[in-house]
Amino acid sequence: MPLLFKKVKELRNFLKSKRCEGKEVGFVPTMGYLHEGHAELIKLARMQNDVVVVSIFVNPTQFGEGEDYDRYPRDLERDLELCERLGVDVVFAPDEKEMYPAGYRTRVCVGELGKVLEGAFRPGHFDGVATVVVKLFNIVQPDRAYFGEKDYQQLKIIQQVVQDLNVPVEIVPVPVVREKDGLAYSSRNVYLKPEERESARAIYRSFLLAEKMIKAGERDAERIKQAMKAFIERHPHVKAVDYVEITDENLKPKKRVEKGDRILVAVRVGNARLIDNWKVEA
Ligand code: PAF
Repeated sequence: MPLLFKKVKELRNFLKSKRCEGKEVGFVPTMGYLHEGHAELIKLARMQNDVVVVSIFVNPTQFGEGEDYDRYPRDLERDLELCERLGVDVVFAPDEKEMYPAGYRTRVCVGELGKVLEGAFRPGHFDGVATVVVKLFNIVQPDRAYFGEKDYQQLKIIQQVVQDLNVPVEIVPVPVVREKDGLAYSSRNVYLKPEERESARAIYRSFLLAEKMIKAGERDAERIKQAMKAFIERHPHVKAVDYVEITDENLKPKKRVEKGDRILVAVRVGNARLIDNWKVEA
């Protein structure tokens, strides 16, 4: 089993001794309920570092009112087993008081990038993410940290924060990992009822539709977005398409689509709110 730390001080002491031995530390921040997507991050961290730390903390400051903080899936035992299988050295699983003790006040404010796309639907979300990630970076002081491209906007924001605040860590992006039917792995997929699954899969299929249109010569972003939205909305369990957006790799909206652009989607299916994105290949 990996070593389990719940206290900042104990984790810091352990990692200090490793750094004194000249060991490089790889860090995978998570909210637990680990899946294949996390496994890819961990595997890469395992290959590139001497010591691998995984944090498991469902961060309250990144959830808005009425969101799924209370029902977010949690299973530390199961997560520890997966971490063991993947050769993780240390799991850091603090409780809320350890991360946000009484009197806690300071927040990282990420600005404009945090107000578009996901940020427009989840005000304050990215400030909460950036705050906890900077705290975790200060606690773990990793050489490298691993983030999935599934949360593409989060990845971009973390890269910006690290650059702006001179955080000495290399951010390593890892491509989206999909289930056999194309649905991107997410801890929130457990909210889907079996009959909602096909509707959730429409997101992936809408990316294939976009790719087909682009290959056939369509470059108008608006027409591609409309076609994707209409396609997703045709599925019975889709409650709302929050957005379909096409941007360049830095999240700047595009009118004409080019290779390397990103298509970002958020859809509510049943009780799940799913986000996904696709790098334009054609
Ligand atoms: O992507 C996540 O699981 C979370 O947003 C993160 C980066 C662990 C911060 O709580």
